[in-house]
Amino acid sequence: MAFPVDVTTVQGDILSGLLKKLETTVFFQIGDDVQSFRKQLTQIIPLITTTPQAAERRAQVAKNKQEAAQQGRKADLLPIVGVTLAFSKFGLTKLGITDSTGDSPFEQGQLADAPSLADDVSNWLDVFKNGVHGVFIIAGDCQDNIDQQLTQIEGIFGVGTAQATINEVFRVTGNVRPDDQKGHEHFGFLDGISNPAVTDFDKTRFPGQESVPASVILFVEDETKPSWTVGGSFLAFRYLSQLVPEFNDFLKKNPIVLPGLSPEQGSEFLGARLVGRWKSGAPVDLAPLQDDPALGADPQRNNNFRYDIGDDFTSQDRCPFAAHVRKTNPRNDLEGMANPIPTTPQRIIRRGIPFGPEVSDAEAAQAKTLTDRGLLFRCYQSSISNGFRFIQTNWANNTGFPFGKPIPAPGFDAIIGQASDPTSRTLTGVNPQDQGTSLSLPTQWVVSKGGEYFFTPSTVALRDTFAL
Ligand code: HEM
Repeated sequence: MAFPVDVTTVQGDILSGLLKKLETTVFFQIGDDVQSFRKQLTQIIPLITTTPQAAERRAQVAKNKQEAAQQGRKADLLPIVGVTLAFSKFGLTKLGITDSTGDSPFEQGQLADAPSLADDVSNWLDVFKNGVHGVFIIAGDCQDNIDQQLTQIEGIFGVGTAQATINEVFRVTGNVRPDDQKGHEHFGFLDGISNPAVTDFDKTRFPGQESVPASVILFVEDETKPSWTVGGSFLAFRYLSQLVPEFNDFLKKNPIVLPGLSPEQGSEFLGARLVGRWKSGAPVDLAPLQDDPALGADPQRNNNFRYDIGDDFTSQDRCPFAAHVRKTNPRNDLEGMANPIPTTPQRIIRRGIPFGPEVSDAEAAQAKTLTDRGLLFRCYQSSISNGFRFIQTNWANNTGFPFGKPIPAPGFDAIIGQASDPTSRTLTGVNPQDQGTSLSLPTQWVVSKGGEYFFTPSTVALRDTFAL
């Protein structure tokens, strides 16, 4: 079947993903001279990476690596830069685009949504309280190339002159972690494994990878929605600090006690049961007792599970119900029930990147975070209500989810679940041999410092509606 939108106009980060070692995210407000901003936008559009361009770069880099491997040498570094541009509702309003997307969280902005997400707004960075208008995300292979691209963009908007049409309000750079931690988030777990495939776009689908219609991720033709939304996608951005030394300290002090497990193994096991995957990426549903790094690294196997092996569907023998990956994608917990509940509308495409330095010796010794680090979380979906927000509020923060499980209730998502009192979180099933006992989590190790909901328009919408 034909893809429902012209993919050449869809921004590359959404479906293909931009290759990155580093990524600078620049939040801005539009100044009073909106007309000039809209004119200058015309010159920005050619700099935005489209889906075919992003796919082409991926193919080039893969070919380069393959050739180097065949010739037994290190692959040359290919210069890479990719650009994404998105606007918040405040930005749309500033541009005079006032018709509604119909998505209430987007229309209100993330600050208004903070109570529903159970965020403590006193932790929020001021920038997210002051109505950000838009965001540029520049991904690249090195800071020089990113900075060069940013300088070009800033030049177009006259930044640094009296005629500047945008005001940069916050900038943050994320970086892929070094050496063997490449691809792992700061708690140490391999990330970026499970994203849905998009029907009629993704040519390869790995075993266990679910397909979703394009309309779950992108706006498609819909007479009830403004025409400029077609080919666009909502981007939910979250600045999430991670208290890594504190998390590690908790694991160390609370190892799962099982015959044959050393305290270190018990701590590693606890971490794996909280996430639902071992640090290598191996899912505990497939490797319930010990890590299997070969499984974690194998895309043909590492996503091929449904939580319904043996009696696991109703017990937590293999994976706690409240493990992060089970809470955020319950697979057959809902779809395999006698009255299946489809979870397709809740699927999102995640494209985050870690930020901040590695844990220092002093931090590890004191079990205390001294420098901010975490995840610049972002995900794409055609509905914030059904996507990010649904997962955070109805699943991760909801102690009764997944539904229909034996009493006591599953509890909070140990990684991202939020409670109004952050010291009150509990979950069950952590020790497979004592599944009814609740484990109290003394704190939230992921602290939201805010974020915003954005709309990522197609290049056609940028040209015909956003620019002049
Ligand atoms: C999967 C970590 C925030 C939704 C994962 C995985 C890790 C991880 C290690 C497993 C690897 C993978 O499947 O890609 C984290 C950390 C976070 C965070 C450390 C915060 C600092 C979030 C947030 C959401 C989310 C805010 C959405 C509300 C998901 C989803 C999956 C996932 C949907 C895939 C589950 C699956 O399909 O099996 N995360 N995550 N994560 N996470 Fe997160």
